[in-house]
Amino acid sequence: MTVILATEAPFARGGNRLCYVHPDHADRVIKVQRPDFPLEERRRRKGFPKTLRPLSSFDDNLQEFREMQMLDRVFREPLYRHVSRCYGFEVTDMGAGLVSELIRDDSGAISHTLKQYIWDQGYDERCQQAVAQFAQHWIALGVPSRDLLLHNLVAQRDSAGNIKRLVIIDGIGNPGWIPLGWWPRSLRVAKARRKIANLHLRIQTLLPLRGQDKFPGYHGRLFHDGQPPADG
Ligand SMILES: Nc1ncnc2c1ncn2[C@@H]1O[C@H](COP(=O)(O)OP(=O)(O)O)[C@@H](O)[C@H]1O
Ligand SMILES: [Mg+2]
Repeated sequence: MTVILATEAPFARGGNRLCYVHPDHADRVIKVQRPDFPLEERRRRKGFPKTLRPLSSFDDNLQEFREMQMLDRVFREPLYRHVSRCYGFEVTDMGAGLVSELIRDDSGAISHTLKQYIWDQGYDERCQQAVAQFAQHWIALGVPSRDLLLHNLVAQRDSAGNIKRLVIIDGIGNPGWIPLGWWPRSLRVAKARRKIANLHLRIQTLLPLRGQDKFPGYHGRLFHDGQPPADG
């Protein structure tokens, strides 16, 4: 059965996808390609020689689904302490929708991104602890990822407002050509270490911007009533 999204209000938008609460499952998100930014346009903007690649290689939903299947085979349950679960595709009136675990705080509110948290609260003690705990787990497992962007991590909070865990909701997987199973563990761990060092750098780069009026960049905040933030 086709899931109807076009008449629903999205709760967030990334560079490529629109995110909706699944109409039949309040604890799942369904992500579709942004209608204002179709795959053909994405490919065109990349320029030659990437324009020679098939459209599917620009489809984040498809890439993410494949990568999550591969990561699941390698890492199993421990992966999901800090990565949202992926439930596969459903047909929607806005194209193929990828369904994943929707990260909510204990209050029921959809969790804010790490970028929003730090913007609002600063890099407080609890956040530092959450980052340290995430980093330790990430390096111990040696999960392959692209850069760990502050708007691709969400901070899940308990009823007192303290961060329970950081969860990656986008941008993991192995973008290279070599299958994950062939990578020696030492190499994976070294790479995860570099990604964590880069995450710390991103946090330090955000902090001095906190004084300014405008939230930096286009991504990282939730919509209000289906609309992006006024200055977003
Ligand atoms: N599983 C999730 N739980 C909570 N919020 C999410 C989840 N997935 C996405 N979001 C929110 O939606 C935004 C955009 O989603 P994302 O998957 O990063 O899209 P894109 O691939 O376009 O970058 C995120 O920055 C985050 O605020
Ligand atoms: Mg994203």
